Amino acid sequence: MKNSKIIGLGHYVPEQVVTNADLEKIMNTTNEWIVERTGIEERRWFTPGKDTVSNMGTRATKIALERAGLEAKDIDFIVFATITPDYFFPGSGVLLQRELGLQGIGALDIRNACSGFIYALSIADQFIKTGMYKTVLVVGAEIQSSALDKSDEGRSSSVIFADGAGAAILQATDDEGILSTHLHADGDYAEELYVQDPGSSRKTRLSKEMIDGKTFNLTMNGSAVFKHAVVRFSEVIVEALKQNGYNPEDIDLLVPHQANLRISNFVQKQFKMPDEKVYNNIMHYGNTTAASIPIAMSEAWEKGKIKEGDLLCLAAFGSGFTWASALIRW
Ligand code: ACO
Repeated sequence: MKNSKIIGLGHYVPEQVVTNADLEKIMNTTNEWIVERTGIEERRWFTPGKDTVSNMGTRATKIALERAGLEAKDIDFIVFATITPDYFFPGSGVLLQRELGLQGIGALDIRNACSGFIYALSIADQFIKTGMYKTVLVVGAEIQSSALDKSDEGRSSSVIFADGAGAAILQATDDEGILSTHLHADGDYAEELYVQDPGSSRKTRLSKEMIDGKTFNLTMNGSAVFKHAVVRFSEVIVEALKQNGYNPEDIDLLVPHQANLRISNFVQKQFKMPDEKVYNNIMHYGNTTAASIPIAMSEAWEKGKIKEGDLLCLAAFGSGFTWASALIRW
């Protein structure tokens, strides 16, 4: 059986930089509050008419392809992680496939929020390990800024979420690569972090009541998310290490989902990891949900922080609740 290996990474973030000072002008907040609670200093918001989830995914993919030394036609299958697709349906995977000129190959959308990229990576890894495909594109991309409640009522979450895209090209290899992936969910907590509408179980998909009730906006129980996230992040990292016979000190780089700097710092402390072994960039990009891990990995790779032979650990927690990890020999 073959393994799968990441052979190219790329990311794209919208040009529009929104600083905490910009947010101070549109809602009752302060730079101090945002930095202290989340670590975020600035984030990117999309430009309507220019950026879409699928075209940002395409831009990230083109960079990843170039770095992998491949062309789009080398891709056999697409797994696209997003909870903010361009359309209600079809998924953004088919739009990305069309933009890449790959009509005919399969494209699958994954809706597992902040854990979406690791779920997508796991699926791509399984397809390669079973021999079904040789080269699989995995994308995480989101436009969160258009569904945030930017009034004072929604300020505790609207200062956190943002937009961007990242891509990884996986290819079959006889060497080590993705060592294992670990996927979990607990639907008991589905409503602790969610966007209710346009939900199909409602009498109608669009009503004035929904708009007035802001049920199209993201709703989050911040303290419940924090409490569960710190436990699940740690559990799923330990699970990955144990399965492969490693200890926390064997990790060369931990790339956590960029949920909130306080959550990343908490996890880092639990494993007594030095700063240089944990990659965080939430300060500049905010929380980009399924895009955060591939953006962080791509940026870490650009900065030379991921080297041949390194042991990389990815970990995520998000809406669902879902949580996941991946251990990778680079
Ligand atoms: N600016 C200024 N004040 C604010 C803001 C804001 N943006 N938002 C809320 N406040 C005020 C509130 O009105 C409240 O004031 P009061 O005490 O006078 O009533 C006070 O700050 C505390 O409000 P809470 O909503 O309880 O905010 P909390 O202290 O819980 O912080 C936060 C919110 C940062 C989201 C916190 O719950 C947290 O860190 N949660 C972790 C979850 C998380 O990071 N989620 C995002 C990622 S989800 C994911 O990726 C898995």
